[in-house]
Amino acid sequence: MPESDHVGAELARRANAIVFSVGYRLAVDGVRYPIPIDDVHAVWEWVTARDDLPSRKAIGGASAGAALALASALRSRDETEARKECKARDESKAEDESEARDESKAEDESEAREGSEAREEGGAEEGSGARGGRIPDLILLAYPFAHFPVPTLGLGRHQEEIEDMVRNYVGRISDLPPDALPGAARLDGLPPVHIVLSEHDDLRPSGELLERQLREVGVEVESLLARGSTHGHFNRPLEEPEPVDVSLGFFASALRVPQQAPKWLKKADAEPRIEFGADYNPEQWPREVWAEDVRAMREAGVTVVSLGIFSWVRLEPDEGRYDFGWLDDIIELLHANGILVDLATPTASPPPWLTTKHPEILPVDVDGRTVWPGARQHWRPTSPVFRDHALRLVRKIATRYQGHPAVTAWHVNNELGCHNVHDYSDDAARAFRIWLRKRYRDLDTLNSAWGTAFWSQNYSDWDQLLPPRFANGPVNPTQQLDFQRFSSDALKDYYLAERRILRELTPDVPVTTNFMVAGDINGMNYPDWAAEVDFVANDHYTRPGPQSRDELSFSANLTGNLIAGRPWFLMEHSTSAVNWQPVNIPKLPGELERDSLTHVAHGADGVCFFQWRASKAGAEKYHSAMLPHAGTDSALFRAVTDLGARLRSLSDIAGIARTPAQVAVVIDYESWWAAELDSHPTDRLRYRREALDWYTALLDRGIRADVVPITADLSGYRLVVAPILHVVPVPLQERLRSYVGSGGHLATTYFSGIVDENDHAWLGGYPGALRDLLGIRVEEFTPLLDGVTAPLTNGTSGTLWSERVDVTDPAVKVLATYDHGGPAVTRRAVGEGSASYVSTRLGPAGLAPVLDDLLPAAGVDSELPPELRGRVELAVRGRARFLINRTDQPVDLSSLPGVPDDLLPARGVVVVR
Ligand code: GAL
Repeated sequence: MPESDHVGAELARRANAIVFSVGYRLAVDGVRYPIPIDDVHAVWEWVTARDDLPSRKAIGGASAGAALALASALRSRDETEARKECKARDESKAEDESEARDESKAEDESEAREGSEAREEGGAEEGSGARGGRIPDLILLAYPFAHFPVPTLGLGRHQEEIEDMVRNYVGRISDLPPDALPGAARLDGLPPVHIVLSEHDDLRPSGELLERQLREVGVEVESLLARGSTHGHFNRPLEEPEPVDVSLGFFASALRVPQQAPKWLKKADAEPRIEFGADYNPEQWPREVWAEDVRAMREAGVTVVSLGIFSWVRLEPDEGRYDFGWLDDIIELLHANGILVDLATPTASPPPWLTTKHPEILPVDVDGRTVWPGARQHWRPTSPVFRDHALRLVRKIATRYQGHPAVTAWHVNNELGCHNVHDYSDDAARAFRIWLRKRYRDLDTLNSAWGTAFWSQNYSDWDQLLPPRFANGPVNPTQQLDFQRFSSDALKDYYLAERRILRELTPDVPVTTNFMVAGDINGMNYPDWAAEVDFVANDHYTRPGPQSRDELSFSANLTGNLIAGRPWFLMEHSTSAVNWQPVNIPKLPGELERDSLTHVAHGADGVCFFQWRASKAGAEKYHSAMLPHAGTDSALFRAVTDLGARLRSLSDIAGIARTPAQVAVVIDYESWWAAELDSHPTDRLRYRREALDWYTALLDRGIRADVVPITADLSGYRLVVAPILHVVPVPLQERLRSYVGSGGHLATTYFSGIVDENDHAWLGGYPGALRDLLGIRVEEFTPLLDGVTAPLTNGTSGTLWSERVDVTDPAVKVLATYDHGGPAVTRRAVGEGSASYVSTRLGPAGLAPVLDDLLPAAGVDSELPPELRGRVELAVRGRARFLINRTDQPVDLSSLPGVPDDLLPARGVVVVR
């Protein structure tokens, strides 16, 4: 039957899988439960026992076959659990016995026992089949019939008919064994489950219920509602080709072993170049303008545009009605002109027809207010209804442009989490509970992690758990911290759902999404996301202020280190002013080029802008663009064209990795989240500002530093600065000890080492987990009121924070002292390495003398001649040295050998090979 033959053949072809079809005995001629399950399970045991097959194995079935597949998976789970229990019992029995026995005899016995267990364990792991099956890696269920009784949709199938089926299979319709229709069984401990639901299917409620049940017990579930399909559609590939195709695609993509995807733009021409372009929104303009756009793009040297980012309503004007004609035309036009298309999945701004029909997709803020449409990103990351509509559109667009030579990459959604990262809706609450179940497994563990003994917050049922919604006082801090973690994960999960479809349909096109590594944006844990994009893309906008330029460098630097060694893509920045700050000032002459090249210096191989042509209408009409309102005859367009030419002259740098520095400034999102929670010693603390101060202080001394995530390999750095490293779980404590123990130099600051991963204070005095390493002890924090300073005897002075630091290890040297007495900055030598502590906020100038002590001790010196230190930032990509003017004055470069132009213009960049 096609349900077996066609499905098997297609999955083999699409997923490159080996498929076994099981001809289990059917419930006829007296064959009854559990014989069909026994048959399926026997085959599963046989398959998992073979050692000539790929290790990743899935089990699946359709309709009643889905119930059998699930029942077999449950058996495997039970058998695995029983094996574990048995082993644990043996071990404790052996322990008791060994006490009573003569020592040497006991040793012999336990060795023999360990040997046989190891064989047994190994056998089970490799699937020897001796004692039952191995839990599958994946379960695929098509329109499962997994419950009885099950409410039907009333489409024709009668309750009596279903009863007859159950009676035929089990022999009765009451007192059913839980695995006969396994929705009644215990469902936890299963691998990810993918469920295909048929739309017009009386039994659909069973699949839907199963999905909810699995989610509730923490099993990962993905489902696909096959539009227009009926129950058993896999058996009708000729009659229902579309849903069969979509459903097969869904299973095949789950089954496919993740491939090494391309890591950079897909293009015919492999010549290295720095890509140049913008978001392009042709739907805002009449067609006559398009030709003029493309002509001007060519003039400016544009090589790539991001297309269709906010086009949902233009592509799907009404539910299920699509209009791709205009997008086809513009893609053709761009292609004909040699411009690559970074095609967006247009899911960032759901159209009015959708929000009107389904207001339940709208996010809810912390105060319980609905986030209404009118702007964009008004969707809940966890809404199943939103997902259903958005993913359907993603599938449509990916199918339509599959194989199109112009499509160079996928731009998923837009700035995921911009405006909707923290959603407090009921959907979010449900998803948060599932996330918590996965993290903690049982409520006792959660209660202890959340410290719920405090304020009578003990939870006795998962349903009692909520996002940290508006309350009349500070909400449980661990609940808040977990909600930050969850919110980042929920968005990532949504991204992965889109990616899955794109990878399935266009495996050769790389997938990315534009991050927002910039300023105070910290909702998304990008170091955790980075592995999921084929190449990192970032959006960056500057804000006025004394460290504005350094902040850009800092952000570009961190972006480049999210996946160290790989080039990344600057998806958006601005040619001049933005429109969303209180006062929006244009860029000064030179700034456009300097900003762009600073990103390139830190590894960007693409320089793009928001947007190509300045809008005539809408909220962003005063935002600068590559082509301003003034048109091509403008200073800005000329600067843009010059930039295009400059980037072309740097083509040889494309693909070359940044050269690592000797100093690292560490960023830890967990510490960032936790250190800025409420009810702290001060609410003035800003995590990233402290990190940026160190970076500026390093640049002021002419020192090149890498900004790296805490997860990076630190062993190659001579000096690691970890400001406000607030969350230090045991493994991190050990990593830092071993870094210092092997000769590394660590510097950290106030409010570091204070809590563990549950935001529980380390006891015994501050800085908690780092106390011994630093050789100091602090009993109380002394934050400073606004305007109050803590002068130091070296002439600098602290703000924000101060401490009375007691030195506990004679190896500690006090590097700076508070005027009122007591150490302010300390350094403890540990073998060849050291651990230093700064107990107050010193700012870039105040950190200068600190670095004057730390840098020579760590053996770090500037790579720039003294005349240039502080005035020029140096960044290195292979043989290319970027000299970036940090000032508004020209800088004389004659102290540097081999520089073609002796003068580095104000805000200019010189690249020396
Ligand atoms: C970004 C966004 C763009 C545009 C830009 C303006 O956050 O992705 O669509 O709004 O800001 O600066």
